[in-house]
Amino acid sequence: MCGIVGYVGNGAVSDILLGGLKNLEYRGYDSAGIALNDNGKIDIFKAPGKLGNLYAEVEGKKLPASGGIGHIRWATHGKATADNAHPHLSNDGRLALVHNGIIENYKSLREELEKDGYTFYSETDTEAAVHLFEREYKKCGSLEQAVVAGVKYLKGAFAFCIMHDSEPDKIVAVRQNAPLVVGLGKEENYIASDIPAIVGKVQRIICLNDGEIAVVTRKDVKIYDFTGKEIERQPEYIGFNPEVISKRGYPHFMLKEINEQPGIVRHLLQDAYADGGEIPCLPKVNAGAAAKAERIEIIACGTSLHAAAVAGFVFEEWLKIPVSVVAASEYIYRRPLTNEKTLVIGISQSGETADTITAVKKAKETGAHILVLTNREDSSIVRYADSLLPLKAGIEVSVAATKSYTAQLTCLYLLGLMLAGHRQSLPAEELKKLRAELQHLPSKMENVLAESAKIKDCVEKLKNYRQMIYIARGINLATAMEGALKLKEISYVNANGYPAGELKHGPIALLDENMPVLAVLTPGSRIYDKMISNCEEAKARHAFLAGVTFDNDTEADRLFDLLLTVPAVAEEFSPLILNLPLQLLAYYVAAALGREVDQPRNLAKSVTVE
Ligand code: M6R
Repeated sequence: MCGIVGYVGNGAVSDILLGGLKNLEYRGYDSAGIALNDNGKIDIFKAPGKLGNLYAEVEGKKLPASGGIGHIRWATHGKATADNAHPHLSNDGRLALVHNGIIENYKSLREELEKDGYTFYSETDTEAAVHLFEREYKKCGSLEQAVVAGVKYLKGAFAFCIMHDSEPDKIVAVRQNAPLVVGLGKEENYIASDIPAIVGKVQRIICLNDGEIAVVTRKDVKIYDFTGKEIERQPEYIGFNPEVISKRGYPHFMLKEINEQPGIVRHLLQDAYADGGEIPCLPKVNAGAAAKAERIEIIACGTSLHAAAVAGFVFEEWLKIPVSVVAASEYIYRRPLTNEKTLVIGISQSGETADTITAVKKAKETGAHILVLTNREDSSIVRYADSLLPLKAGIEVSVAATKSYTAQLTCLYLLGLMLAGHRQSLPAEELKKLRAELQHLPSKMENVLAESAKIKDCVEKLKNYRQMIYIARGINLATAMEGALKLKEISYVNANGYPAGELKHGPIALLDENMPVLAVLTPGSRIYDKMISNCEEAKARHAFLAGVTFDNDTEADRLFDLLLTVPAVAEEFSPLILNLPLQLLAYYVAAALGREVDQPRNLAKSVTVE
């Protein structure tokens, strides 16, 4: 949700800021802007729309500067216009800032500042902050003191980079409920919302904590708390190599990330079973505490919620305790029965999703054991974790989650098997059998991806429909929901997932030759025959019928207009493999329709607002 960058040093400031923003584009693309401090004069360039518009705006201009700040926006308050684009400038033209987050009390602040004579030029919540800091600067004449004085007035979530024309070599960065990292270079320093913006530029970083202010000059970085007291922070070494944010020859990050999935599963399994035992070893999970739970609640959003739904299904089977799966945005406003005997699992690829963080925080207050699954061990959610399960999927750049979903499923299977081992809720023989089944998954997944050309060919049959229904039962209901979400978010086809048995309770009214139905099937399962009956019902209403099933399915061929097959696996693990054709289908439909696959409209990779 918005990305911010800052730089002070001898490098080409505008190029560095634009390059940083390029690597943060997954955070928003409604507008972009930079402010450059050129020897005591602040120049601002901004453009609505994608970053390319800002590139065009600055192209061919000589832009000398000793420091600058930049922003990429996901609009919350105010439309995606140039006036609402960041950086925002103070009324005296001397102070500029960029902001990620939401200032919740901006209306009252605006009224107060307007009474003080300040004029507002945008509809944003952010503009209140820039005038506030100008007002405080005028009282003390020091940027850092103005920031310390100003933050006391602010409520909500904010990461800022702020600069003043009188101190061209300085940027003050602030973090409160929105991520911010400082990159330490030689005679130059960086600030960014996320590591991809500075990957390859610096070796050492300091991840700011909430309530911290960094005063960044080219020579050094000093960290203070919100009272202005200096804090000692040790830098850590950056763990990413620049290669992780390259497309490696693929046309889109999404396709690259889809193809990384078998390798991710293989590594997760290797790590978890490295000791040769039958029970997975997950070193950052407090197995004793987690296994004692009498019930489990899993909270997440979007794709992570679909992974949670799969886990809910298998955990009840394997652990024989009640499991509830709740959308984080709903959990926040419920009165759940969470207590010290509950294991609460929060799942978030980014670790920055505001809904999930707030829900996990609320659960922690009840004394529950909090287990966090995240792809970012440096993210905000981790600070609430009693146990941690890193997804180890590598940076996911495409806004549509693919490889992180597969890593979530794999980690949840491993967690379920570990807890079952500790609780002795599954016989040792069963654990052994499930382990053996899991080990076959990566090569079977590779077989599916090797045949992706077949799926590409099917796209012609589906790409012209503007709507679609996905159906499944049991464990693969989540697969259908996820497949529909993927298609919807990147192709803008109105795809919706339903439990197949629910069709007849309403959605069947939508069926005719213009509404294709895609069924996710698991031959051999107890729900297979019922699924086939539901597919027959759809066919009888003239729906074009597509199916995803195992290659040993003997029934489906006669019924379906289009059939995609994958190698057969144990039903428990089928979501891992049946999901692949659905990801590819979504990808190829979106690509065929000429959509911006990696940056679908209105979305952002991490949703840091409630
Ligand atoms: O980072 P998180 O896993 O917390 O993100 C949750 C959702 O915002 C995310 O999965 C979203 O639904 C994606 N667009 C799915 O492709």
